[in-house]
Amino acid sequence: MTNNTALRARLAQLFPDAPPLAYVRTYGCQGNVSDGERLQGMLAELGFSFCASPDDADFVLLNTCAVREHAQVRVFGNVGAFKPLKKSRRRMKIAVCGCMVQQEGVAEELRRVFPFVDLIFGTHALPKLPEMLWELYENDAKVTDVENLDGSITEDLPLRRESTFRAWLPISYGCDNFCSYCVVPHVRGRERSRTPEAVLDELRRLVGEGYRDITLLGQNVNSYGKGLAETPTFPALLQAICAVPGDFRVRFMTSHPKDCSRELLAVMAENPKICRHLHLPVQSGNNEILGRMNRKYTRERYLETVQTAKALMPDLTLTSDIIVGFPGETDAQFRDTLALVRAVEYGALFTFIYSPRVGTPAAALPDPIPRAEKVARLQELCRVQEEITLRRSQSLVGQTLRVLVERVGKAEGTLAGRLESNAVVEFLGGSETIGHFIDVTITDATRLVLQGTQN
Ligand code: 5AD
Ligand code: SF4
Repeated sequence: MTNNTALRARLAQLFPDAPPLAYVRTYGCQGNVSDGERLQGMLAELGFSFCASPDDADFVLLNTCAVREHAQVRVFGNVGAFKPLKKSRRRMKIAVCGCMVQQEGVAEELRRVFPFVDLIFGTHALPKLPEMLWELYENDAKVTDVENLDGSITEDLPLRRESTFRAWLPISYGCDNFCSYCVVPHVRGRERSRTPEAVLDELRRLVGEGYRDITLLGQNVNSYGKGLAETPTFPALLQAICAVPGDFRVRFMTSHPKDCSRELLAVMAENPKICRHLHLPVQSGNNEILGRMNRKYTRERYLETVQTAKALMPDLTLTSDIIVGFPGETDAQFRDTLALVRAVEYGALFTFIYSPRVGTPAAALPDPIPRAEKVARLQELCRVQEEITLRRSQSLVGQTLRVLVERVGKAEGTLAGRLESNAVVEFLGGSETIGHFIDVTITDATRLVLQGTQN
């Protein structure tokens, strides 16, 4: 066990003129972004400052994703690109962490291909960053820690948040669902929930600090509470969150459709603090594919849930993830997905071509569909969704909606903000409103960005 004071002193000795600079790059989902904020928090507490380019960095940390092969290929490419930089800057240390290296065999491969990497650690070792840095800076060692310490949560890690008004708030970690294509349960371990007290404490702190848009995170927020004493439910947690006073709104992801209860939808409908936005990934619109994906719901049950949600909240925006080209998916089965997308009328879709992941059951299934066919399906799906998005956006013209102002916009003198639905709106205005809610009337709608005027 190191103590942080000793490590801080060691770093001050090694970097006497200015604090060491860290470059942290996060790939992948919001869960990873949230981990990245904790990694940066630990580094800041140890005396690191941060830089925007690896060229200036004393410590490079790549926080990786494993959900699709593409993410992994990119990281390998990026690590390779550090070789000349590391040669020219002897003191520079390079670390790779997160889901990609938690996969079996990947740490070994990374070590073999890139022996200049100093530190490799998986998702479970994240809280041990100070100890691992001690080994690096005090003992000049190379460190690998990809042990599978299933089932633990470390509370109270320091945090360096990216925004001062939008925050990620993890409520659970890991996943027990084992969808047949997905590597997450293998690299993030079993599902475990933070206690309601820990979640509410963090939320109260955020609200007190002026955070206004808070996203609760979990691979399946709907099964929140499993394994905790008194098994609190997700709807109950949401109600406790909504009872916290303050000018904030809350959203959550991801909801697994198999556990999306009427009670949850009713709690959403009753509470104006909960965004009228539900990310409910369907993955496929065909029952046979859903079965092979191990999703545990049918197309009919999914559509029923959607109908209930829309009946309770007519202004709800649904979003979804869809995988095309799952092993053996026929054209007719893909058409079922297209028809479902047309029926639900999502506000936005996140679309993926199936990517085989080592160790998952789907990777062993025969997959005769050519890549070109899968690409064509993805393109067709995106075209269908673009029409829907445009139609939905145009239906907002004339409405006055609450916007959280986030940043200056692309065009001169404009600002950009987000609706409850998560859609982006641009409008003329001064930067003093950034980080605050304002009312904007929608005047024009192109596919990606809405235009409006401030009231
Ligand atoms: N191939 C393609 N997409 C995947 N996803 C998860 N695993 C895979 C895979 N092997 C998608 C799912 C999930 C989202 C986060 O990533 O749609 O909801
Ligand atoms: Fe992966 Fe399914 Fe768990 Fe989501 S619910 S993380 S898709 S296994």
